[in-house]
Amino acid sequence: MRDILPPDSARWRTLHNIFADVVEAAGYAELKTPIIEDVGVFTRIGDATEIVTKELYEFEDRGGRRVSLRPEVTASVCRAFAQHRPTPPWKVWYAGSNFRQEKAQRGRYRQFDQVGIEVLGVDDADLDVEVIALGWEFYRRLGLSRVKLIVNSLGEPDDRARYVEALRVHFESIGDALTEQSRATLAKNPLRVLDSKREPDFPHIASAPKIADFYSDAARAHFDRVEAGLEVLGIPFEVEPKLVRGLDYYRRTIFEYQGLTLDSAQNALGGGGRYDGLVEALGGPSTPGTGFALGIDRTLLACDDEGVFASLPRQLDAFVVDTTGGAEALALTAELRAAGLAVDRAFDGRSMKAQMKLANRSGAKVAVIVGTNEVDAGTVVVKPMSGVHGESTDQVTVPRSDLIPHVKEQS
Ligand code: HAM
Repeated sequence: MRDILPPDSARWRTLHNIFADVVEAAGYAELKTPIIEDVGVFTRIGDATEIVTKELYEFEDRGGRRVSLRPEVTASVCRAFAQHRPTPPWKVWYAGSNFRQEKAQRGRYRQFDQVGIEVLGVDDADLDVEVIALGWEFYRRLGLSRVKLIVNSLGEPDDRARYVEALRVHFESIGDALTEQSRATLAKNPLRVLDSKREPDFPHIASAPKIADFYSDAARAHFDRVEAGLEVLGIPFEVEPKLVRGLDYYRRTIFEYQGLTLDSAQNALGGGGRYDGLVEALGGPSTPGTGFALGIDRTLLACDDEGVFASLPRQLDAFVVDTTGGAEALALTAELRAAGLAVDRAFDGRSMKAQMKLANRSGAKVAVIVGTNEVDAGTVVVKPMSGVHGESTDQVTVPRSDLIPHVKEQS
């Protein structure tokens, strides 16, 4: 887990704002769910999912309840839907931290942030297209261009079950030629063997049955419509039959946005898909669902790699320097802030020199300086700080009553 220090922290908020802007313009409203839930909410994600079997921050609280920090938000959204029964379609977005006990490395952390959307109650393939397009638009708004969209369909639950069985038979017939880790995966979830990043597994994965051969007519038609919709919107994508995603709840459409500048083991910037049985598994009515979550940590790494979406903390308009002992700074700072300006000041009765140093370091556009002479004359001195307005550092004395318009003019 990491600290996100200023100025980098400012990017996180800006990024959340951009995301909110993109999805609220498409009818999504923010949902806030708890960070801790009954562990049962997350075990419904599936017992073949490592996030659940190995990575949960699960503990007993003081009331003897088995709870867990959330490893993701989709299950919580479905739990909230089952609990509150809002009228579908329910279009929500969220932003916040998630927790998984993973081996931390660049792009993989034990506390990480996601922004995401979920829609409950819509079966239409055009909604899958809308969801995928919104993630794509978000990356575009950040200025990212080295992002690749891959899509696949896992078919209807029956198709998926028949495919999983065919994969099991195929991989079992290979025996020891499959790596030991993949044999362990096979026992739990044959689909995930397709995800293997181990070279000796590659030929056996290449010769494995293909999901497309198992689609029912309905699943084929749904996926065709998703592909056609992405083409209509001009969003470039690749169908990747080996894409399975790490969570068990997916049915039909799944997709991932890959950051081409990132290491392949951590290159998923975000992903999502349909999870039509999840609300039901959490005690609600049978309800189709679709959505995505985008990893903020990795998205920012990709921005750094591409040199886009730089960190821009808010610049101060003024820094108040008071050599009378501090009372003037108190009133002046309050007055300037009330006028909507971003203003800081020095404390602890520091010397003029020390205060000017702070003013410089603050990055403020001007220093507003007040001493006993200015108090007596009813004026203040406004000194542009070097580097902001070219080389000019000429200070001017202005009547105190003109201060606000004067600083506004400079900012
Ligand atoms: P996920 O693929 O587990 O899906 O996570 C989505 C994104 O969160 C990943 O692509 C990655 O960017 C980021 N992420 C995941 N784990 C970590 C980590 N340990 N460190 C840094 N970033 C990480 C879900 O969470 C699903 N709930 C997505 C979804 C929403 N499907 C349908 N609706």
